[in-house]
Amino acid sequence: MGVGMTKFVMAIDQGTTSTRSIIFDGTMRVVGLGQQEFPQSYPQSGWVEHDPEDIWKTTVSTMRGAMASAGVASSDLAAIGIANQRETVIIWDREDGTPIHPAIVWQDRRTGDMCERLRSEGLEPLFSERTGLLLDPYFSGTKIAWILDHVEGARGRAEAGKLLAGTIDTFLIWHLTGGKVHATDATNAARTLLYDIARNRWDEELAAILNIPLAMMPKVLDSADDFGVTSRSLFGAEIPIRGVAGDQQAATVGQACFTPGMMKCTYGTGAFAVLNTGNTLVRSEHRLLSTIAYRLNGETTYALEGSIFIAGAAVQWLRDGMKILSNAAESGRLAARADDTQHIYLVPAFVGLGAPHWDAEARGAIFGLVRNTGPAEIAKAALEAVAYQTHDLVTAMHRDWGGQGSAPAEETVLRVDGGMVASDWTMQCIADMLASPVDRPTVLETTALGAAWLAASYAGVWPGREEFSQSWALERRFEPQMDGDLRARKLAGWHDAVRRTLTN
Ligand code: G3P
Repeated sequence: MGVGMTKFVMAIDQGTTSTRSIIFDGTMRVVGLGQQEFPQSYPQSGWVEHDPEDIWKTTVSTMRGAMASAGVASSDLAAIGIANQRETVIIWDREDGTPIHPAIVWQDRRTGDMCERLRSEGLEPLFSERTGLLLDPYFSGTKIAWILDHVEGARGRAEAGKLLAGTIDTFLIWHLTGGKVHATDATNAARTLLYDIARNRWDEELAAILNIPLAMMPKVLDSADDFGVTSRSLFGAEIPIRGVAGDQQAATVGQACFTPGMMKCTYGTGAFAVLNTGNTLVRSEHRLLSTIAYRLNGETTYALEGSIFIAGAAVQWLRDGMKILSNAAESGRLAARADDTQHIYLVPAFVGLGAPHWDAEARGAIFGLVRNTGPAEIAKAALEAVAYQTHDLVTAMHRDWGGQGSAPAEETVLRVDGGMVASDWTMQCIADMLASPVDRPTVLETTALGAAWLAASYAGVWPGREEFSQSWALERRFEPQMDGDLRARKLAGWHDAVRRTLTN
């Protein structure tokens, strides 16, 4: 491949259950893919950990796999973009890179007590005001504090500047650049409970409350920026890292939700609805998060986010735990066969409940079981739970956003992506519960596409925002079909089930 032809771009999508590396060509078509799952570890109830070594190894091997499958050499890659599972943290030794503890994953609930204590000290309004977040174990800050509290000598080493902390993007950048760059982007920083999203800087007061030395936190760059180059020893040529965003923010970009009022929801392990609020930092009155959608050329675009912790993970549980499915794709077909006269509600609070309830202690429950309830009814209840929760998030967004934007949120169509959107049944169910249309694009690799666009537009090999937005294409629109009374009855049943599950 000659000079001037290096328009291939690689996106690394380091997710909760798998790592994927995807190569796009100059026309934004996928030409190569490497994908690997890695183990999850649950050392105690409510704890979720990853081995940092697995994250690193699967990243390198999927990058190599993607290059091999595309027949593209490292020297053919103009840039790398990274999208990552957010909030998950690793702390490692600055000298030799050794992690001092397994990665504590975003789903991990071990810092519930710490959050409760901070709340009881009346600190939640301060954290919310500065970071847009709530005091929930979901976010990185209390996880970092927990490691510093529980690994012998860690706080002293951190204070002496010997340890570095980071979300997964930072960990990967540091390793990919051979330890030269310790950086993150604003979207990932915004999930730590330590970052002032209005002033765009680490917050010393919050760090002092959590007893975290800010010296261990990375430098915060734009989402499209110069994050260094991969070390020559890894892939031969040095590949520039030019885009970084948390996976949900990358998907927002990949769905071209650039205009205030545009909204996407990604159905992966969890489900995350993100509404672009432009340069307005909207403060939620309905327990949604205010966060950074992306920061480009120093300009911050904000978002409202609703986070559901279990979506695809419920289907995974049906397959691996309950063994009532042999593959995830069966779930919609099975649900379609369910007995409609049964009113089963499954509240998938396996790791507590996220927005808008934020109940770390809640655990899953199934209501309405009768003598002939079987796999089809349970599968249907699991998929419906995803739709009900989407409804709750979108309703909260309408209330927070109503009247503020150029487009009233009620008219906003939800753009969807992620593994679960392959199920027509589930998408129809979501449209029915929202009573508004759901748009499924032709390109479903939106997280990777968003990360690739951040990197490629910065590197000057892909078009800018407008042309990229025009390339977004609809595959299918799901129009709501459910009768209003039935919908209201079903939602009332769901809300009753949630009420009975909550502990707070
Ligand atoms: O906030 C957690 C989120 O970033 C995880 O995304 O796709 O790994 O479920 P995913």
